[in-house]
Amino acid sequence: MMTKKSEATLKFEDKEVSLPVVIGTEGDKGLDISGLRKETGLVTIDPGFVNTASCFSQITYIDGEKGILRYRGIPIADLAEKATFVDVAYLLVHGALPSEKERMDFSMLLNRNSLLHEDMRHFFDSFPKGAHPMHILATMVNAMAAFYPNVDVNTTARNIEHSCARVISIVRTIAAFAYKKSIGEPIVYPRHDLSYCANFLNMMFDSPVRPYHISPEAVRLLNVLFIIHADHEQNCSTTAVRAIGSAQVNLYATIAAGISALSGPLHGGANQAVIEQLQMIHADGDLDKFIRKAKDKNDPFRLLGFGHRVYKAYDPRAEIVRNECEKYLAATGIHDPLLDLAHRIEDTVRKDSYFIDRHLYPNVDFYTGILYRAMGIPENMFTVMFALARLPGWVAHWREMISDNTKIVRPRQIYVGRTQQEVSDDLEHCAKLHLI
Ligand code: CMC
Repeated sequence: MMTKKSEATLKFEDKEVSLPVVIGTEGDKGLDISGLRKETGLVTIDPGFVNTASCFSQITYIDGEKGILRYRGIPIADLAEKATFVDVAYLLVHGALPSEKERMDFSMLLNRNSLLHEDMRHFFDSFPKGAHPMHILATMVNAMAAFYPNVDVNTTARNIEHSCARVISIVRTIAAFAYKKSIGEPIVYPRHDLSYCANFLNMMFDSPVRPYHISPEAVRLLNVLFIIHADHEQNCSTTAVRAIGSAQVNLYATIAAGISALSGPLHGGANQAVIEQLQMIHADGDLDKFIRKAKDKNDPFRLLGFGHRVYKAYDPRAEIVRNECEKYLAATGIHDPLLDLAHRIEDTVRKDSYFIDRHLYPNVDFYTGILYRAMGIPENMFTVMFALARLPGWVAHWREMISDNTKIVRPRQIYVGRTQQEVSDDLEHCAKLHLI
């Protein structure tokens, strides 16, 4: 657990305060400013929370300088090689990998909760053609509280257990139904005899006229992809989950907020945006032009799939995906020119001082789209795949947050607007501008 060893001293005007330094189990140090405002009247300002640790957490550890990522202490590469996604979901939510019996019980719970309420199926008819599946997913998950009540933070431990399993399991069904609906095919129901990832692939690709052969390699690969996306400590969507959840809204509403945050192109939406950018560069043919644009401060263009707020070394998840890409494309005999282009981009920028100086390496989203394409997943479903995988992480953070009795998230601000005005001052001002 966290220890308090030393203190820092802050001098401001005639006041001097001691601020404890807290140290995490891996040596991370943080200045505890929880008494600052009371003692000095000062608040801190930190746009984008670049220097702010918003909570203590026991779930995921990242060392961005060394490229380390561990869930509950276990390195990501170890989990990707030896565990299944369901094992990792259990690990994140419950704190340790499951025993044989715990795995069976958890799988059964996921299976029992995989069916979507039949009345919710009709919702799919009301979305316009071409609606983005992330919008559909967020809406459907938000609506779940109406169909599956007893999900507020004060419910019983059993209800919490069931609701967590339900949301992890059902998003997979919603995602596959949304896809089937978008292509005008009949939906395929989840099956109890299939594993988590096999079930998802079957719901996506099985059809009455073209039975789907579940490829063990695709199932293995999906497990790896889901595992590496399952948690990433206090990223934007997890922070949204913790912040919204701190108001004690129900679990489904908090997860819907996480899904919405994830959809942004600077966050989970990057995996779809990367493929679209690779296609654009491939069609144009002039890679150097795009590298120049990415480096030009007057041009908003960014090389998507590069850079990360936390990693200043190679993202360990990107390394796993890059290797899986090589393996899967070779095993399936698929030649994707976008993979060649991705390699060229990586080789070019890794020699370029702009990217070297700013520690801009490929992130998890740079190669994932190429793999999803090879698996037959359509581009507008890429971010949905990220959301399915991130569910255990959001659920684990929500549970940690409610068990810590977190105070409602309510930051302060530094007001920089107009000082007090009278109505008559404003009217005079408008008259001068001939607005009245
Ligand atoms: N292409 C070109 N320049 C970049 C890029 C990029 N992809 N990313 C960062 N920079 C530059 C940026 O212009 C800035 O330069 P300077 O110091 O000269 O002003 C410097 O690098 C630092 O960038 P920043 O925007 O201050 O860094 P940040 O921590 O606020 O942003 C980021 C992190 C991921 C939003 C950003 O790197 C980015 O926009 N990357 C592209 C989008 C992307 O791939 N997102 C997926 C992130 S991984 C999945 C996830 O966790 O959700």
